[in-house]
Amino acid sequence: MMGSMSAPSSLLRIQRAVNHQGKRAYHDLVTLPTKKPIVAQGPPGYSAVSGHVVTVFGCTGFLGRYLVSKLARMGTQVIIPYRDEDEKRHLKPMGDLGQIVAMEWDIRNENQIAECVRHSDIVFNLVGRDYATKNFDFASVHVDGAERIARVTAQSGVPRFVHVSHLNASASSSSKLYQTKAEGEERVTAAFEGATIIRPGPLYGYEDKLLNNMAIWPIWWKLNNAKTTTRPVHVMDVAQALANLVHNPQLARTIALPGPSTLTYEYLLDLVSSLTYQPPSRAPVLPKTVALAVAKLAQAPWWPLLSPDEVVRRYIDDADTPGDWDAVGVTPSEIEQHAIQYVRRYRSAENFSRPNVFPQRPILTEEPYGLGF
Ligand SMILES: NC(=O)c1ccc[n+]([C@@H]2O[C@H](COP(=O)([O-])OP(=O)(O)OC[C@H]3O[C@@H](n4cnc5c(N)ncnc54)[C@H](OP(=O)(O)O)[C@@H]3O)[C@@H](O)[C@H]2O)c1
Repeated sequence: MMGSMSAPSSLLRIQRAVNHQGKRAYHDLVTLPTKKPIVAQGPPGYSAVSGHVVTVFGCTGFLGRYLVSKLARMGTQVIIPYRDEDEKRHLKPMGDLGQIVAMEWDIRNENQIAECVRHSDIVFNLVGRDYATKNFDFASVHVDGAERIARVTAQSGVPRFVHVSHLNASASSSSKLYQTKAEGEERVTAAFEGATIIRPGPLYGYEDKLLNNMAIWPIWWKLNNAKTTTRPVHVMDVAQALANLVHNPQLARTIALPGPSTLTYEYLLDLVSSLTYQPPSRAPVLPKTVALAVAKLAQAPWWPLLSPDEVVRRYIDDADTPGDWDAVGVTPSEIEQHAIQYVRRYRSAENFSRPNVFPQRPILTEEPYGLGF
C-alpha cells in the first residue's frame, strides 16, 4: 500500500489541510508542484470542476453577484447564504447543475454560519450596509457580524478568509460606516489569523449607488459644492480581484483597491450629464444642516432613501492610500470606459444612439494607469 502511494509521489501527493479539525476536502488532493486539485476536470469554464468550494456571505448584493458569476465560471462550487428567497434566484443559473448551493442564514445564528462554511476552503465576507436599519445598526453588521463570521469560519477549520471592508475605513472618521468598518477589520483579524482584508473604493456598475444615483438625485451630490474627491472603481475589477484570490496563496494583509483616478463629484456629475444628454442639474447647493435634517426625516418612510451618515460621507474625500492591484493581478479601468453602459438608460429615446460626449477632466492627480479610453 505504502509502495503504491510512494511511487508516483513526485507527481501526486495528498496535501493535508492545516486546520484545527484536520478536515480535508476535494481541493486538498493536489498535484505537486502545481498544487492543482486532482479533482479538477475540463477546461476552465461553466462546466469545469476546479475542486474549490467557496462560501460568499453577502452574495445577494451588488458586488456579490459578479463575484459569484466569476467563481462559477471558473468551475468553483459556490455556497450562497441568503435571507430572502427571491434575492438569490438570479445567482442559481450562474453555475452548472449543483455548483451553486443556496443556504438560508441569519448573521446572528452561529450554527447556520457553521453550516454554510462547513465544506469550503475559502470564505468571503461581503456583508455590509450603507445605512442602519431598525434591526441592524452599522456595528451589528460590520463589527459583531463580521467578527462572528470570521470566528466561526476559523473554528470550522476553513484555511482562508477574505473580508471586504472599505477604502475609507478609519477609527477616527466622522462617518459611522467608515468607523465600524475599521473596527470590523480589527475584530476580524483577531478572530481569524491571516485573514485578507480588501478595501475597495466606491463601486460603479449596473446596480451601483453612484452613477445611477447621480443621474436620478444630482442634488445630493452637490453637497460641499461637489468638490469632494472620490476614487471610483469598476465592480467587475474588484470582483475579478477577489476571484483571483482563490488560486493565489493566502495574502495575510490589507489590500487597498481604489479606482485608478481621483475625481471630484463635480466631474462625475458632468460626465453623467454629458453621457445622458440631460442638462446639468440646476438644483441649489444645500447647506449640511439642511441636508442632515432632510436625511433624518427620510428615515421615517424608508431607510435607504438618504441616510444621515450618507450626508456626512458626501463631505469626506476618499483616502489616498496607494492601490495594491498588482497583488491581485488586475489593472483597474477608468470610469469613462464603462460609464455609458450603465447610464445610457437615462437617455431619452431620441438621444439613445447619439455619440458619447466626455467633459474635460480636471487634473487632480497624476494618473498612474493613463487614460486609455
Ligand atoms: N458599493 C460600494 O460602493 C462599496 C464600496 C466599498 C466597499 N463596499 C463593501 O463591499 C461589500 C459589498 O458591497 P455591495 O455594494 O455589494 O453591498 P450591497 O449591495 O448593499 O449588499 C450587501 C450584502 O450584505 C447583506 N447584508 C446586509 N445586511 C445584512 C444583515 N443584517 N444580515 C445578513 N446579510 C446582510 C445583504 O443581504 P440581503 O440581500 O439579504 O440584504 C447583501 O447580500 C460591503 O461590505 C460594502 O460595505 C462597497
